[in-house]
Amino acid sequence: MTVSIRALVTADEIQEVIAVDRECFTNPWTEEMYRAELAHPERSRFLLASVDGHVVGACSYWRIVDERHINNLAVRPSFRRAGIGAALLDRVLSTARDERASAVLLEVRRSNDAARRLYERAGFAVIDVRRAYYTNPVEDALVLTLTLTSSGT
Ligand SMILES: CC(C)(COP(=O)(O)OP(=O)(O)OC[C@H]1O[C@@H](n2cnc3c(N)ncnc32)[C@H](O)[C@@H]1OP(=O)(O)O)[C@@H](O)C(=O)NCCC(=O)NCCS
Repeated sequence: MTVSIRALVTADEIQEVIAVDRECFTNPWTEEMYRAELAHPERSRFLLASVDGHVVGACSYWRIVDERHINNLAVRPSFRRAGIGAALLDRVLSTARDERASAVLLEVRRSNDAARRLYERAGFAVIDVRRAYYTNPVEDALVLTLTLTSSGT
């Protein structure tokens, strides 16, 4: 299986991101939310993961001065545990390092063991808890961060 990771090329490809999110989240971002993001190319970044030309995963994140904030990172259920989530995350981190960003942040549901392990494996650590941050169902968010240094950690 050959996985390719690339940035969004055309605005219409946001439909691929939306389709992946709908399969993967109980409260996915709406098309309106994503269209609003597309109006801020200086801030909003999107990555697509494909297998044989078919989009199987996506990540959306923000570039805010020297921080990166991962909003959504998801892989279609039938393509999980094949390293695609890690490949998307690696691309966010390598691009952030190339741009000399200092930190990457994100929120994750407390019960989301798969995502927590993915991020912990990459070196992220819990720095805060946002009580009842999520809806459908209501749940705390853990705030995770990874500090990037010029030595490449
Ligand atoms: C979290 C998610 C993106 C992981 O994607 P994935 O492609 O399956 O992840 P990978 O195969 O790259 O796994 C990388 C590592 O993460 C951890 N991991 C991933 N899924 C796991 C699971 N179900 N249980 C335990 N650990 C898991 C493992 O450490 C894994 O390494 P390993 O396979 O060598 O053990 C995927 O489960 C998903 O889309 N979930 C729904 C959306 C979501 O919750 N996104 C995160 C919040 S933004």
